[in-house]
Amino acid sequence: MSFFITGVAGFIGSHIAEELLKSGEKVVGVDNFYSGTRANIDFLENINGADKNFVFYPIDIRDSDRLEDIFKRYQISYVFHLGAIASVQKSIDDPVFSNSVNVVGTLNILELSKKFNIKRVVFSSSAAVYGDEPNLPKNELSKTSPISPYGYEKLIGEYYMNIYNKLYGIETVSLRYFNVYGERQDPSSEYSGVISIFEDKIKKGKTVNIYGDGLQYRDFVYVKDVAKINISAMLKDDVAGEIFAVGTGETTTILQLFYIIRDKYNQKDLEPNFIKARNGDIRESRSDNSKIVNKLAFNNFTKFSNGIMNL
Ligand SMILES: NC(=O)c1ccc[n+]([C@@H]2O[C@H](COP(=O)([O-])OP(=O)(O)OC[C@H]3O[C@@H](n4cnc5c(N)ncnc54)[C@H](O)[C@@H]3O)[C@@H](O)[C@H]2O)c1
Repeated sequence: MSFFITGVAGFIGSHIAEELLKSGEKVVGVDNFYSGTRANIDFLENINGADKNFVFYPIDIRDSDRLEDIFKRYQISYVFHLGAIASVQKSIDDPVFSNSVNVVGTLNILELSKKFNIKRVVFSSSAAVYGDEPNLPKNELSKTSPISPYGYEKLIGEYYMNIYNKLYGIETVSLRYFNVYGERQDPSSEYSGVISIFEDKIKKGKTVNIYGDGLQYRDFVYVKDVAKINISAMLKDDVAGEIFAVGTGETTTILQLFYIIRDKYNQKDLEPNFIKARNGDIRESRSDNSKIVNKLAFNNFTKFSNGIMNL
């Protein structure tokens, strides 16, 4: 029995693989290195026992023939689907391309899961499905109102998960991540790239720019918690067909983020440089995570100030 991960060379996918491999599970991963890295695959290949438990194929999720070969070759029971163009900006610049990966690629994974009687598919969705819906905190019943092709593509992915569950009986779960951060994050990430930028500059004693008053806030969730929530969503009974908002429910302002990282590097004299707020920046984002706590029995969220220390 194996776990299949698309986007395994990426930030979150590599953490799910790490968690599974460290528990002695078998993992088959694919990625086309669009934004994932060979370094993440090297890291996974060097985990104790990975020589026999981890296999990687550089495959594009739009290539259903090559994916089918993998499903034929391995006894895959569970699918984590993370492979995606994880960029709002890219989806605005090139919606046809981003749709081909985020929607058609997702459909390919579901078709193969149907054909090979996969037990469950856990899909990485995004808080981007809420778009400009103003009410906080956001839960699974909040209105979805995407403001980008990316947000719509994730929402369509969720709808496909739902319909494959209803029509074909495949167990599917969609996880709407808020701002995931942690080790191995790409500094250009639109989600938590601000953390890497602040880390990089403040460490060197350089000042950082903060857009607006710095009181805009986010719900930053630690990547190792997200990996555990994925595994729980895969293995728990009675969650098929469900959606979960994946955040901590806690918020951190950009200004607080600055102070936390400033303290981390003992740069007490450093002050931020406030610049004009950016158009279209979401001011506030916060999840209601009670469903994760109640249905996935996950309540051990890493405090932001502790997670930051691991970077
Ligand atoms: N990081 C966050 O805060 C966040 C928030 C919401 C949703 N998500 C979603 O979580 C998932 C993982 O995000 P991440 O932060 O790890 O981003 P990431 O860019 O590190 O991971 C995505 C992976 O998918 C791979 N990929 C892209 N196109 C592919 C294709 N055609 N075939 C095969 N692989 C392909 C990339 O190379 C990359 O390794 C994505 O689906 C993303 O949309 C992330």
